[in-house]
Amino acid sequence: MNPTGASPRVLFVASEAWPLAKTGGLGDVAHALPNALVALGAEVRLLLPSYRSVLRAVTDLRVLGWLETRSHGSLRLLEARHAAFDLPLWLVDDTALYDRPGGPYQDAHGHDWPDNARRFAALSEAAALLADDRLGLGWRADVLHANDWQTGLACAFARELERPPRCVFTIHNIAYDCQIDYGLFHELGLPAHWWHLEHGEFHGRFSLLKSGIVSAHAITTVSPTYAREICTPEYGYGMAEVLAARRARLFGILNGIDTEVWNPRTDPLIARRYEYGPRFAAAKRANRKALLQELGADEAALASRLPLVGFVGRLVAQKGVDLLMQAIERLLADDPPPAQFVLVGSGDAELERRLTELVRRHPGLVFGHIGYSERLAHLVEAGCGLFAMPSRFEPCGLNQMYSLRYGTPPVVRRTGGLADTVTDCNGESLAAGTANGFVFDAIDAGALEAALRRALACHRDRRSWHRLVQRGMSEDHGWPRSAAAYLRLYLGDEPTPGGNRDG
Ligand code: ADP
Ligand code: GLC
Repeated sequence: MNPTGASPRVLFVASEAWPLAKTGGLGDVAHALPNALVALGAEVRLLLPSYRSVLRAVTDLRVLGWLETRSHGSLRLLEARHAAFDLPLWLVDDTALYDRPGGPYQDAHGHDWPDNARRFAALSEAAALLADDRLGLGWRADVLHANDWQTGLACAFARELERPPRCVFTIHNIAYDCQIDYGLFHELGLPAHWWHLEHGEFHGRFSLLKSGIVSAHAITTVSPTYAREICTPEYGYGMAEVLAARRARLFGILNGIDTEVWNPRTDPLIARRYEYGPRFAAAKRANRKALLQELGADEAALASRLPLVGFVGRLVAQKGVDLLMQAIERLLADDPPPAQFVLVGSGDAELERRLTELVRRHPGLVFGHIGYSERLAHLVEAGCGLFAMPSRFEPCGLNQMYSLRYGTPPVVRRTGGLADTVTDCNGESLAAGTANGFVFDAIDAGALEAALRRALACHRDRRSWHRLVQRGMSEDHGWPRSAAAYLRLYLGDEPTPGGNRDG
């Protein structure tokens, strides 16, 4: 499987990794990609902050040593193991920075930790020093792979080394950045020459994200379409020019999914396990019932034969959940109603309020859960007939691939990784056997409503429906192909800029 036969040493640094800490897809990727690289023969270490949730979950802790940093003085480094990882975990252990209640980036009330720049500058500097074997462990990284703004400075610090590793910076979401003023820049002891337009200076402040982009030997993002989109003002969040100037070093490599964790044949979190075949429909019904029961549905709602449309995700503008709520209102104006809906997520207070209100107004037809629940996320995939992802932008998106695998055709907007993984169902694609879901273009509740109506009509046409489901369930969205593309990139064999799936 390893295309090269080489086994580079890779230090993979991220601010979250499932099942230790996760707020979104980055957590899934930082778990599955390092494992997939190990399976291809790479020697990988995963570096994370020692959040409270991480320290509680890992085993075999031992102290590796202390690193002297300019951003946060002396930092202790730990090594640990966890059953979900086929590689050693390295942790930057600093109680004041990481050992607190709440999430990786925010407190329990959803406010960003005020010292995030310091927390992630420390993580990043530690990454560069570890790559350079400053602890004398006899392990020097060939590649430093950093992810998103939290580790942008890792590439910048690494490029200051006498013998820098090859620096790969992956953008999972360009909408998120951390920008600091000159006072904090100075306080963190960052090298003065970084405060420059050719480096991280950005509109009178310093951007940790830009710093990663300009310092990396290779920049990747998580789908070919998003790689093109972020070079445009509409999607680039101010970084379009910076990226367009580096287009030759920017590659789109589609994420994979963990096919062990997300496998309807073996999933321990669902009510009845299944595969495509004669018992598929009965298993779906059993999972639907378990899902709705968990959400407090009464007998009438449980007995309904209406198709169930699901959504799981962060309740933020990116995900288009406001468009979905509007489309649901329009669909439920039909008599009789054409579907039931279930939405699971948390995020913006206003969207949470609107979702609560929608559920209250449509008893028995709309179900919601505000909060993070892995069990419900799996049950929605297993128990729904359709899955909605009307994202305004979506760098890759993982849920549409989970949906395909669980026989729950996705209804998506044509953007980013959604455009690269979902083929719209129409006469031609159905005949060709390539249709696996429903795609619409405009950022508009009416366009989503129309796509949902097309999907519901197809659901009534059993032959077409089963072709669609069967196609989705048989597709291979596993990591090996994408991990091989990263491995080639690590070794300097660069894919076509803007690239496609394999590069
Ligand atoms: P993003 O990273 O933008 O949030 P992705 O589709 O890449 O989007 O990944 C989101 C991941 O987080 C998926 O694994 C999804 O199931 C999970 N997720 C999001 N919200 C919730 C929630 N409320 N409960 C459980 N899992 C969630
Ligand atoms: C980001 C993106 C999402 C992507 C994930 C993992 O959070 O919003 O589209 O799938 O990162 O790369």
